[in-house]
Amino acid sequence: MCGIVAYIGKKDAFPIIINGLKRLEYRGYDSAGVALYNSGVNVYKCKGKVSDLEEHTLQSDTSGTLGIGHTRWATHGEPNDINAHPHSSQGGYFTLIHNGIIENYGVLRRRLEKRGYNFVSETDTEVLVNLIEYIYLKGQVSPEIAVRLALSKVVGAFGLAVLCKDDPDLLIGARRGSPLVIGVGNKEYFLASDATPIVEHTNSVIFMNDDDVAIIRRGELSLKTISNHPLEPKIQTIDLDIEEIEKGGFDHFMLKEIYEQPRSIKDTFRGRLSSDLQEIHLGGLYNVLPRLVEAKRIILIGCGTSWHAGLLGEYLIEDLARIPVEVEYASEFRYRNPVIYPDDVVIAISQSGETADTLAAIKLAKSQGALVLGICNVVGSSIPRETHAGVYTHAGPEIGVASTKAFTAQVTVLAMMAILLGKRKKTITNEHASQLISELSSVPEKIEKILLLNEKIEGIAERFKDSTNFLYLGRGYFFPVALEGALKLKEISYIHAEGYPAAEMKHGPIALIDDKMPVVVIAAKDSSYDKVVSNVQEVKARKGVVIAIVSEGDTTISGMSDYSIEIPGIHEAMEGLLAVVPLQLLAYHIALMRGCNVDQPRNLAKSVTVE
Ligand code: F6R
Repeated sequence: MCGIVAYIGKKDAFPIIINGLKRLEYRGYDSAGVALYNSGVNVYKCKGKVSDLEEHTLQSDTSGTLGIGHTRWATHGEPNDINAHPHSSQGGYFTLIHNGIIENYGVLRRRLEKRGYNFVSETDTEVLVNLIEYIYLKGQVSPEIAVRLALSKVVGAFGLAVLCKDDPDLLIGARRGSPLVIGVGNKEYFLASDATPIVEHTNSVIFMNDDDVAIIRRGELSLKTISNHPLEPKIQTIDLDIEEIEKGGFDHFMLKEIYEQPRSIKDTFRGRLSSDLQEIHLGGLYNVLPRLVEAKRIILIGCGTSWHAGLLGEYLIEDLARIPVEVEYASEFRYRNPVIYPDDVVIAISQSGETADTLAAIKLAKSQGALVLGICNVVGSSIPRETHAGVYTHAGPEIGVASTKAFTAQVTVLAMMAILLGKRKKTITNEHASQLISELSSVPEKIEKILLLNEKIEGIAERFKDSTNFLYLGRGYFFPVALEGALKLKEISYIHAEGYPAAEMKHGPIALIDDKMPVVVIAAKDSSYDKVVSNVQEVKARKGVVIAIVSEGDTTISGMSDYSIEIPGIHEAMEGLLAVVPLQLLAYHIALMRGCNVDQPRNLAKSVTVE
């Protein structure tokens, strides 16, 4: 949550920061602000989006070659001008932007109040910036020492950037828990919550680790720990194409990302399926494969859409590799004292690689001796660095807050893992494995076909845009897809939607059905097709309106349904990858027709770095 951008160099900082904040706006968008050093520190901030901030600063002097900027997702204090970042200390010596939560801010605030500090905002960040100032003035120490000492008193998470009024050539960055990346240019440096605002300026980056502090002077970087141990900066070259983080002719990132799925899935399996489609190579698992094959149990953890991918992973791994799998919400797992054995393998699934609950669950599993693997999209993010090994999804940057292509890429990785494990454990024959690999390789082309139905789906959306409730039903591999379809609809259109296992209907939710209740049934041909036919009959008998996702050529369920959307035939283990696409499009169009902000739905943020 919250996006941070900072610049120090020879260029004007303001346009660099504003442009960078726009790229990070998916992380939070309830207020925005900048601080620029120009014969003193000037702060401009306001409630609303980065575009509101631009308007707010139209008449202001925004010159300066050193600055920090922030786009906020509120944790402490409502989104308004006062709570927006940056925050300056009472004496004006320090100005700070912060992503994360200072958990002991209450205690620190009371201590500072006793020493004469008054607070204007409700934020934890204002407490931190005043603590830095207090130490600076009281201890007569350098700005760097004041920042490090203050951070050593802080409990919680931070990714932050600080300016000091007394030093026009100094930018300080620090991280614990919340991500921070340093961009290394030609005598210029950038700080950002992820690499997307940096790549148009340089592809040399340093991913900061927890408790790292960057002391950046013009043209000079020194990296150390909060406790003052010098560190050798590890500069990495990142391969992120600027076009990948722009809309590329689409109206919204979400639509672009839905349409990217044939390519993103191909990128996810590229080089991992042998050319004769007989073998799967997951290089990231090479060293841990024996332990994975011998695992007594696999625990998949994630949140939201990544948890839904985990649920599909459970079906895939149990079906093909016959290893018992549990799927856990990371947030529950870490707080409920789970039983973890050393021969368990825990696999964390995350698009951003920064989700705080997932990271905490990983740390817990590691502390109990489990092998912990990651399936992540963002290269260099915290989860791949915190896990023993893992597989990147290679879906490319996902900017739309509602996850689409990351989900199908995660499921692609899980399918590859399940086939690989099945082969190694001999729970599937080589012929079966090769049939599955060939089916997996056909997914991109089949999704291309589904995307041709966009206009038809838009027509269906028109009919349901004013509905207030939706049910999504599916059995087997389609149950997680039903959950994911419902989540997509509710998060971007604000229509209440629930996903259910189709057979559970009769145990309660069937009471909701009347002629106003749209019911999306994922009913493509699979081993439970006949049972789903009965479920559709049950809905129709109560006058429910059925929108069915069916296999090409289906007449039975299509004939019973009010609307049907056909998807190409494929092995049932891969069907989820196809069936989710029309549901993503349906949610997109309904949200658009209701006038919702599809890419930045209210109250949400892309990267949930608070617990
Ligand atoms: C839904 C969505 C969220 C994320 C969840 C986990 O569309 O995007 O539910 O899936 O916040 O995020 P990651 O995958 O980054 O750990």
